Amino acid sequence: MMPRVSVFGLGKLGAPMLAVFASKGFEVIGVDKNERFVDLINQGISPVEEPQLQELISVNSERIEATIDTRAAVLDSDISFIIVPTPSGVDGLFCNDFVLAAIEEIGSALRAKDSYHLVVVTSTVMPGSTGGEIREKLEAASGRLVGDGIGLCYNPEFIALGSVVRDMLRPDMILIGESDHKAGAMLAELYRSTTESNPEFHRMNFVNAELCKISVNTFVTTKISYANMIAEFCERLDGADVDTVTHALGADTRIGKKYLKGAVAYGGPCFPRDNRAFTALGEKLGANTALAEATDKINSYQTERLLAQILLALDSRSDRVSILGLSYKPNTPVTECSQGLELVRRLSKLNVNVSVSDPVALQNADTILPNGVQAHATIKETICGSAVVVICTAWKDYASLPLLITELAPSDRPRFVIDPWRCTGVAQQIINSSDYEAAKPIETA
Ligand SMILES: NC(=O)c1ccc[n+]([C@@H]2O[C@H](COP(=O)([O-])OP(=O)(O)OC[C@H]3O[C@@H](n4cnc5c(N)ncnc54)[C@H](O)[C@@H]3O)[C@@H](O)[C@H]2O)c1
Repeated sequence: MMPRVSVFGLGKLGAPMLAVFASKGFEVIGVDKNERFVDLINQGISPVEEPQLQELISVNSERIEATIDTRAAVLDSDISFIIVPTPSGVDGLFCNDFVLAAIEEIGSALRAKDSYHLVVVTSTVMPGSTGGEIREKLEAASGRLVGDGIGLCYNPEFIALGSVVRDMLRPDMILIGESDHKAGAMLAELYRSTTESNPEFHRMNFVNAELCKISVNTFVTTKISYANMIAEFCERLDGADVDTVTHALGADTRIGKKYLKGAVAYGGPCFPRDNRAFTALGEKLGANTALAEATDKINSYQTERLLAQILLALDSRSDRVSILGLSYKPNTPVTECSQGLELVRRLSKLNVNVSVSDPVALQNADTILPNGVQAHATIKETICGSAVVVICTAWKDYASLPLLITELAPSDRPRFVIDPWRCTGVAQQIINSSDYEAAKPIETA
């Protein structure tokens, strides 16, 4: 018989997980403190925006329900996944308070249950957490020992916002930190029927899995900073082109092509904070953290570099700058630590006029944008009358920018387009918009 699943936390990861499991035939109960999210799920509406998610929820609604009643969810399921926030503390380390609160509730509910129950922590936690305070809390709350009637696993997801459903269905790898063989085997069995990519399974103890999770993200950030470093070299070397170099570099299988595109600083809710948590962990352990620190420094430098290019392209502070793209990457409305938002804030502080647009990330514009920044629904409205246009997110829509510019009256056309992603098909980072064909980079001093 298929195990019944409960998912604690119906946010950016939890909602897709609920839908993906339901789409593979599992009965799934979602639990969240946020009653609005619970109501939405029960009405068959996705509480978060993510490609394919609404479709999956609609098609599989008969196997999906949601509740705020933790006890009922635990008693009605065999496996509970915990995907609640683990915010960064002032020391840079992730804080387990939300996870521990969920564990306490699940543990208390387990007192009323005799049959085997598996608790799975999917939230990103610091090494030492699952085998330490999480296990202790679960045992204290349930009055049972982990490995004896209850199992505990650490099972992080390796997804990217904007492709969460796809990434959950087609992972490269399933990482399982397990309290014991029975717990890990039950979880592995579930993933064999929910994944479509025949992933590698890596089963290990808790601390190895916790370190592996955070190492994957910090390796990727190192790769991005490396590509951005090459991008700057290329801007300063006559005849050099970053994409030509990184395509060849990535063809070496020791390196690989993914996340090797020189462009803007990495952002989002995970990469910057995971890299800082990695550094904080190293410091706590007395280990050398130079590489993680350099990655972070090179990342912050990308914003300064881009800002300097923008200011150099302005004739005066009364010139307007258009920022295209507020989300930290395409296909998500998430603006946390995004390059676009950071530039908007920095330019506003310098009293530069700014206009912005984004295909999906303007819903919270009122709360995130500084006073005076104009948000527009279309690219054309955004760029009309601006001196400089900066493409911060590689949304597909921005490929049409050259055409849209030619449709404006000459006096309304921007002088320069800064296109770090090469969305408009020109190799240079700074393009004189009057001539996309024969664009020449301008000196950045
Ligand atoms: N977002 C990402 O890209 C990403 C990627 C990998 C890992 N993670 C990790 O996954 C975890 C969750 O991230 P997210 O982005 O889905 O967060 P989120 O903020 O989008 O969603 C978390 C949800 O948990 C709910 N919640 C909090 N306490 C609860 C409790 N006791 N019981 C039930 N629900 C509760 C909140 O109301 C919220 O809806 C974090 O540890 C994060 O680091 C996130």
